Amino acid sequence: MSTAINSPITSEKRKILVTCALPYANGSIHLGHLLEHIQTDIWVRFQRMRGHETYFVCADDAHGTPIMLKSQELGITPEEMISAVRDEHMADFSGFHISFDNYHSTHSDENKLFAEQIYNRLHANGHIKTRTISQLYDPEKGMFLPDRFVKGTCPKCKSDDQNGDSCDDCGATYSPTEVLNPRSVVSGATPVLKDSEHYFFDLPAFEQMLTDWTRSGALQEEMANKLNEWFEQGLKQWDISRDAPYFGFEIPNAPGKFFYVWLDAPIGYMGSFKNLCDKNSAIDFDTFWHEDSTAELYHFIGKDIIYFHSLFWPAMLEGAGYRKPTNVFAHGFVTVNGAKMSKSKGTFIKGSTYLDYLNPEYLRYYYAAKLTSRIDDLDLNLEDFAQRVNSDLVGKVVNIASRCASFITKRFDGMLSANIDNQALADEVMHAGDSIAAHYESRDFGRGMREIMALADKVNEYIAIKEPWQLIKDETKQQEVHDICSLGINMFRTLMIYLKPVLPVLADSTAKFLNDELMWEGHKSLLTDHKINKFKALLQRVDMDKINAMTDASKENLVPTTSSNDDKKKAAKASKKAKAVDNSAALANPLAVDPISEEIQFDDFAKIDLRIAKIVNAEHVEKADKLLKLTLALDENGSETRQVFAGIKSAYQPEDLIGKHTVMVANLAPRKMRFGMSEGMVLAAGPGGQDLWILNPDDGAKAGMRVK
Ligand code: MSP
Ligand code: ZN
Repeated sequence: MSTAINSPITSEKRKILVTCALPYANGSIHLGHLLEHIQTDIWVRFQRMRGHETYFVCADDAHGTPIMLKSQELGITPEEMISAVRDEHMADFSGFHISFDNYHSTHSDENKLFAEQIYNRLHANGHIKTRTISQLYDPEKGMFLPDRFVKGTCPKCKSDDQNGDSCDDCGATYSPTEVLNPRSVVSGATPVLKDSEHYFFDLPAFEQMLTDWTRSGALQEEMANKLNEWFEQGLKQWDISRDAPYFGFEIPNAPGKFFYVWLDAPIGYMGSFKNLCDKNSAIDFDTFWHEDSTAELYHFIGKDIIYFHSLFWPAMLEGAGYRKPTNVFAHGFVTVNGAKMSKSKGTFIKGSTYLDYLNPEYLRYYYAAKLTSRIDDLDLNLEDFAQRVNSDLVGKVVNIASRCASFITKRFDGMLSANIDNQALADEVMHAGDSIAAHYESRDFGRGMREIMALADKVNEYIAIKEPWQLIKDETKQQEVHDICSLGINMFRTLMIYLKPVLPVLADSTAKFLNDELMWEGHKSLLTDHKINKFKALLQRVDMDKINAMTDASKENLVPTTSSNDDKKKAAKASKKAKAVDNSAALANPLAVDPISEEIQFDDFAKIDLRIAKIVNAEHVEKADKLLKLTLALDENGSETRQVFAGIKSAYQPEDLIGKHTVMVANLAPRKMRFGMSEGMVLAAGPGGQDLWILNPDDGAKAGMRVK
């Protein structure tokens, strides 16, 4: 029996095709890739749960020079290598419960067919141009050299051993022909200039269409800005051919010329989907790809490959008579403990290494809790990770079940009560479904998780106030205990329905425990007079020792990074972001700035929202040696305030600060600290200790100190 509440019926059934970027077939899946696959998988599982016809496809990106050279290094054929890597990738993804409908390869018959067809159509429509260009060539190896396979002396600062396209020492970018004393990374030979005819895709011809396309949908703000920048710079023709030897598809009617890997890579989305359609006759390829298709098509990608997906790809599709993507969703990059993943620190963590030590659902939850719909980078702080998972999943959600289940089993024969002890609480948790769904839909997973955890807090509070473990001692209160614990179990069930896209395995064991399928629509009803099973521990706490063992193991299994290609490197450079300041380190010692900080562009600086704020309250923090807790008002009437923990106790008495002004960073992502949330940062100057200034000098008369 179930008690339903009124709620709008889900809208009509949608047809949705979703992809993740195709990982290169010459490196392992790491926790950076997994952000993308987990983000996409959560979204896909949510759509499926809501009853939409949803397909999720991916593939390995198997072509290009790095893959060709790597297989030579290993002494195997590229086919052997990509097949082994694909197996490894699929095992990793399945370990993280990524629910692909198909995982294919770009080195496939389907992909060859579409690549040729799209190229032929572009050619027939006059969108392919040819011209001769001059490039560095390795005379010993007999191949043209991509930028990153040339090294030499920087033409600007004369530093040795620099890349063919940029200098790590002075940051200069240049063309490989400008490098002094160039040498081929492949053979060590001195490259020579050699002419060759190349094929170009006429991207500028699509400018109007691209402008319209980018304005028609709800593009992410940062993506729209980036695109405007590119439109302003002017679109350029795109070199889509590479000379033999090359591992890829030969261009029709162009012997010795191959499609550049980035031409057939996105076509791999179609290839993988076609392969799925061929295996499952119920799915119709054209319904999703026809020019006039009303099905939805979404690509989830990282910020480094926006150019390919928002310019080249829609233009290729348009030029070849296919539909364009409904939207492209870009995410930022994963950093670990505030810095780029590093092999020497053991923070370059492969998916398979993670799985040797930790439960994949921890990471799924942590990423979900930190994901927004924006393109910000995401820091995987390993201590915060352990703390967050333990406090939210174990301490809040599963705790509800473990507090209530044994009473139901031992005292009430496993039956949930027919009564609802607190209808208001039940309604609140059930009604949250629409808002949580909206957060999933808009990929604001962090918000969704916060809403779920706030509900979990309320349920725990309710149980704590009722104290069923006390009531049970009183013979006259048995019915009450039954009703309280039944509601607790029901609330646990509703929360697990909400969490199911993120935690499919925990949801499965919950389903078995509750004899209920945890369907999305189920959040609108409660289980009454319903038999449940014996409760078994559902989730272990994260053990910091395991995390340390994982980073130790990551130091050992050093593997080459998944290689990117030249264009991608350039794009990444263009969108390089300001280094994230590690909030906690700065709070512990505000003066400890990284002496070799990265140079940032004005745009990066402009992102920092510096504000004059009024200190409306300041107080000591119990048990904290260095911290004061400040309440900062962003405007004079105090309508918007922020709580900030600042490591300035050595320099100020709280009472001297109240009413004064300081400069704060107002848009720093909030950070959970041991003592509470810190929602910003105040700027300080001075050598430290007592000489540490956060105020305007006239305000600076610290108690008993000289005025400067
Ligand atoms: N093969 C191309 C994509 C072709 S799509 C038609 C490629 N491969 S990749 O293996 O380098 O990256 C695959 C995806 O993982 C990209 O979306 C990339 O942005 C993402 N990430 C790679 N490292 C990452 C992080 N450290 N953090 C987040 N995402 C990262 O690009
Ligand atoms: Zn230089």
